[in-house]
Amino acid sequence: MRTLNTTSLTLRDNQLWILDQQALPQEKRWCSSNSVEELVGHIHALRVRGAPLIGLSASLLLALLAERGLPRDALAEALATLRAARPTAVNLMNNLDRIKLALAQPDWVAAMATEALRLVDEDRALCDSIADRGAALVTPGSRLLTHCNTGGLATAGIGTAIGVLLRAHQQGNVAQVWVDETRPLLQGGRLTAWELGELGIPYRLICDSMAAGLMAQGKVDAVWVGADRIAANGDVANKIGTYSLAVLAHYHGIPFYVAAPHTTHDAHCPNGAAIPIEQRSAAEVTGVAGSFGSCQWAPADAQVDNPAFDVTPAALISAWVLDCGVIRPEQVSDGIFQRALV
Ligand code: MRU
Repeated sequence: MRTLNTTSLTLRDNQLWILDQQALPQEKRWCSSNSVEELVGHIHALRVRGAPLIGLSASLLLALLAERGLPRDALAEALATLRAARPTAVNLMNNLDRIKLALAQPDWVAAMATEALRLVDEDRALCDSIADRGAALVTPGSRLLTHCNTGGLATAGIGTAIGVLLRAHQQGNVAQVWVDETRPLLQGGRLTAWELGELGIPYRLICDSMAAGLMAQGKVDAVWVGADRIAANGDVANKIGTYSLAVLAHYHGIPFYVAAPHTTHDAHCPNGAAIPIEQRSAAEVTGVAGSFGSCQWAPADAQVDNPAFDVTPAALISAWVLDCGVIRPEQVSDGIFQRALV
């Protein structure tokens, strides 16, 4: 397969490497990702994360395994294992459905490589379209708040919500970005802060609980987030804490935008209640761990709930900014998001 370089994926000499997103920003470490076990481990540990990137890395690995001569039935098994690695983001399932079709071709080795690389190229283009459409909604001097990490680390391109922030910044319209640290895993505090710094976008890092006060003081002009799955009625699953931002934005009369590729839409999922939400380990809530060190602050026997995502109802969303267009609530007033897509 050809050489490929994105912010967080490298394909060289038929080896797949991923940038360890658990180690950033203290350390820029690349991890080998050449077996299903390795990649599933990276996905579970969030060394590879972000809805689009998970799907792309799984697709590339399967294409590599096919080139290495793994038999078809073993490839099908590997595909099923990877498909189950994270339940909430639908991009993984959507990408692997396309790889599965390639696996069914008579020349499946070439077909899988072509399809995996096509998915990467498409993702780059989707990010650019989202950025163009989203930036058109950003007014001069905007102070924008974002949650989790939706940039080049999480996609093959410039990102989704962060792509919009970047394009709006290039157009001179961003005064500042408020970066939610994003508890419990600190994707905002570690990854978004690092990415915005690299991109030269002015930002201030805040604890998630500070957003309400900033909104009350009139210091937030709009909220921009990504999505892991958009249900058929427009409800959106995204990183835990997104829903509270949407409620706050609604209360304060601030626009709340969801930026995502159309591949995040799941027409088979009727509403947010039907989106599977990943539960993660208690240790992520009772303390923190990363390349910065680790510590536990809660009592050893503390009972913990740790859903990785929450669902924002369509009614709280000002617009879904997709690569194929900006969808406004009026367009889904019949409860069918799908119709607005065509
Ligand atoms: O658990 P994560 O870090 O993978 O969660 C990521 C998010 O919630 C992102 O907003 C979403 O995947 C979109 S990334 C372009």
